[in-house]
Amino acid sequence: MTQNLFLLPGDGIGTEIMAEVEKLIAHLNANGKTDFATDKGLVGGCAYDAHGKAISEEDMEKALLADAVIFGAVGGPKWDNVPYDVRPEAGLLRLRKDLQLFANLRPAICYPALADASALKRELVEGLDILIVRELTGGVYFGEPKEITELGNGQKRAVDTQVYESYEIDRICRVAFDLARTRGKLVHSADKKNVMKSGVLWDEIARQVGKDYADIKFEHILADNAAMQLVRNPKQFDVIVTDNLFGDILSDVAAMLTGSLGMLPSASLGAADPETGKRKAMYEPVHGSAPDIAGKGIANPIAMVASFAMALRYSFNMVELADEVEAAIAGVLNDGLRSADIMQDGCREAGTEEMGAAIIAKLDF
Ligand code: IPM
Ligand code: MN
Repeated sequence: MTQNLFLLPGDGIGTEIMAEVEKLIAHLNANGKTDFATDKGLVGGCAYDAHGKAISEEDMEKALLADAVIFGAVGGPKWDNVPYDVRPEAGLLRLRKDLQLFANLRPAICYPALADASALKRELVEGLDILIVRELTGGVYFGEPKEITELGNGQKRAVDTQVYESYEIDRICRVAFDLARTRGKLVHSADKKNVMKSGVLWDEIARQVGKDYADIKFEHILADNAAMQLVRNPKQFDVIVTDNLFGDILSDVAAMLTGSLGMLPSASLGAADPETGKRKAMYEPVHGSAPDIAGKGIANPIAMVASFAMALRYSFNMVELADEVEAAIAGVLNDGLRSADIMQDGCREAGTEEMGAAIIAKLDF
């Protein structure tokens, strides 16, 4: 059965790294491993240039209908001064919101070959395998009111609203506990219940959900302490579940533990359809559009390729194939090939296309 992928490369290095995923898809299709049909759209600054919006209605419709959306990155200095509502990030946020992708999975795995590329000591990160489960459709990102008002005395007042309802906390915690069951059976729930009401509710619901998972160890952690512990001793964690904003920050910290932001993939999942069991899903690297290196052919395609591997795993249940793609990435790193962001002494530097081709060549077919 043909599966439909909607590709949204976006801006900056997004197009370059997506090109490597397209080659990988072509290779998988040609070898009978998959039967993907792809369509491509515009999101972010390029969509603004073409349509005056961060994503067109037509492309939104395609994203809603696709079996999975593969997303590159958005933004760049060219669009720094466009109106707030149509800034590049608005396209990404609209996709998350309209597809109701409430569960953002951000694994941080330290590839053995890269343990020395981390800013932390090798022994702290070697073998690291943690998963940040970030709530993605609520909290301060979307809460209303969200505005800047003139106070009339030359002063302005800015408001963002951190708001969570219990069902939103409940469903993201269940995703975290379910995933912990397939891994290290430990969930840390991070909030700021010492200063925020939303944190108090978060903790209450997280503990309640935890009661349904007697086999999983539950730990509460304050979000600031979680940031500190992530750089002090990251291997104490297995799954961390947290809100939209804390998840944004903690996942950047976790990403850097692995050597480079260019390594970290993510999956954003909606609820399973009660009839078909299918989830809406979007896969994107955690890094941004890196305008400083865009167009130079030196971007690291690994997070993008690994995001596609997550699509194989979570949207299409092609677990073995996902394992093979991930092993190919590890293999290329073991061979000493490095993009500029993770370059180390004694390794050979390769551009985006060479890295992408090497990953494909590592596959057994
Ligand atoms: C991320 C990004 C986005 C976010 C930006 C681009 C809106 O930083 O996916 O982590 O803040 O969620
Ligand atoms: Mn971020």
